[in-house]
This record gives sequence, C-alpha cells and structure tokens, in this order.
Amino acid sequence: MSNDAVRPLDLASVDHVLTTTRSVRQRLDLERKVPEALIKEALNVALQAPTGANTQTWRFVVVTEAAAKARIADLYRQAAGLYVEGKTSLSRTGVTMLREYAATDLRQQQREALIKSGGYLMEHLQEVPVMIIPCIESRFEHEDVFTQASMWGSILPATWSLMLALRARRLASAWTTLHLIFEQEISALLGIPADVTQAALLPVAWLKGGDLKAAKRLPLEEVTYWNRWGS
Ligand SMILES: Cc1cc2nc3c(=O)[nH]c(=O)nc-3n(C[C@H](O)[C@H](O)[C@H](O)COP(=O)(O)O)c2cc1C
Repeated sequence: MSNDAVRPLDLASVDHVLTTTRSVRQRLDLERKVPEALIKEALNVALQAPTGANTQTWRFVVVTEAAAKARIADLYRQAAGLYVEGKTSLSRTGVTMLREYAATDLRQQQREALIKSGGYLMEHLQEVPVMIIPCIESRFEHEDVFTQASMWGSILPATWSLMLALRARRLASAWTTLHLIFEQEISALLGIPADVTQAALLPVAWLKGGDLKAAKRLPLEEVTYWNRWGS
C-alpha cells in the first residue's frame, strides 16, 4: 500500500472501543504492575486530540508514588463525603449521583450499582498502580462561556482519547473529578503551578475479568433535536 492510500478502518473494532470504554472501578486490577511504556503509548495517542488554536497547552501528571497516591485518595474520600452530603456547589446544578429519578427511569435503575461501584473506588483509590491527572495551562473559571469552552475543549477530548487508547490496550480507567474539590491541595502536593487547571483524575490499571459491554443509555430520540430545540 502506498503511503497516501486510504487505510480501511475496522469499523466493528473502532465502535467496540468507543461503546465499551466504561468508568471501571471494581474491575481494576490493583495487584498487577502497569508498564510505563503502555502509559506513554496511550498518552501519545491522546496528543492527537483537538487543541484550541493549536496551543497544545495540555499537560499530564502521571502519579505512581505510593505516598502521593495515598494523600490523593484521602482527599478524594473527603471530597466524596462533602459531595454525598450535598455540600459542594455541584449540587446546585443537579449533576449528582444522588439525584432521584422516577422508578421507571433508567438512571434510577442504574443508581444503586453506581453507588456501590463509586464506593469501592473511593475505598481503594490509593491501591491503583497509576493515576493520571490531565491538566491545562491557565485559569479560566471566571471567564465567559466562549473562553471556558475553548479551554475545557482543549483538554477533555484528549482525556477521553486517553481512556480509549488505554482501553484498546486492555487497560481500564475511570473518569473522576471529585478530587478537584481539593484541587489546590493536590496541586501543592504534585508541584502543579497555581496557573494550571486540573481537569480530571484517571485511575489506571489492568482490566480484570472478561470484556466490557456497551451501557444502556437514554434513547437517541430523547436527547437529539433536529433543526429546532424540542423537535
Ligand atoms: C465529568 C465527569 C465526572 C465524573 N466524576 C466521577 C467521580 O468523581 N468518581 C467516579 O467514581 N466516577 C465519576 N464519573 C464517572 C461517571 O459516574 C460515569 O461516567 C457514569 O456513571 C456512566 O458510566 P460509564 O462511564 O461506565 O458509562 C464522572 C464522569 C464524568 C463525565
């Protein structure tokens, strides 16, 4: 095949990775070491994500030291406590795992499993072989929506690509943000400068057990509008 020939995509494999990359918590292998080379491979894939104005101001802090992981896990647990008590500003948005839906609502039916799985991660976070904290240079929490979207949009796609690339290598991770309630403390711990924003924390480990499945989601028709909101 010449260099400029179109490489056929294996659509089934691509869709499989896209639809089965879950936030894995109870099936993280806490015993098996994760090779640094695989983390670097996945990070290299993530660097192909879009980046506003080609700034590439993304930064990734890979944490493997036991003491740092233990301190982060402590702060994560403290943050989870505040979250569960409705003491974080996120509660005002309604985006919380404790939100009640009608009994027939899929999200209500999935809630108990989420609480169990979330609790497990909370207890065991310090045991994960690797944590990755994607960051972006600058602070923008007081800026307008254009600026915020441009900045978040320059780190969150790379973060998702990273999860996908890990998954393709049979490594599991989970998207988490609770530690950000103590962002400053964690920045101080890891030497992250004050003008850098943390975006997430991905615990990374080998996946235990069999394959992962596509999740049940609200139906497409409920969440998609054509040409006009609500139609
Ligand atoms: C912005 C964001 C923040 C999240 N924060 C946490 C978190 O702090 N802890 C956690 O256990 N899961 C967290 N999750 C994972 C969600 O609970 C998970 O994506 C959701 O339950 C759907 O499950 P799935 O990712 O396996 O499809 C977060 C996900 C997103 C997108």
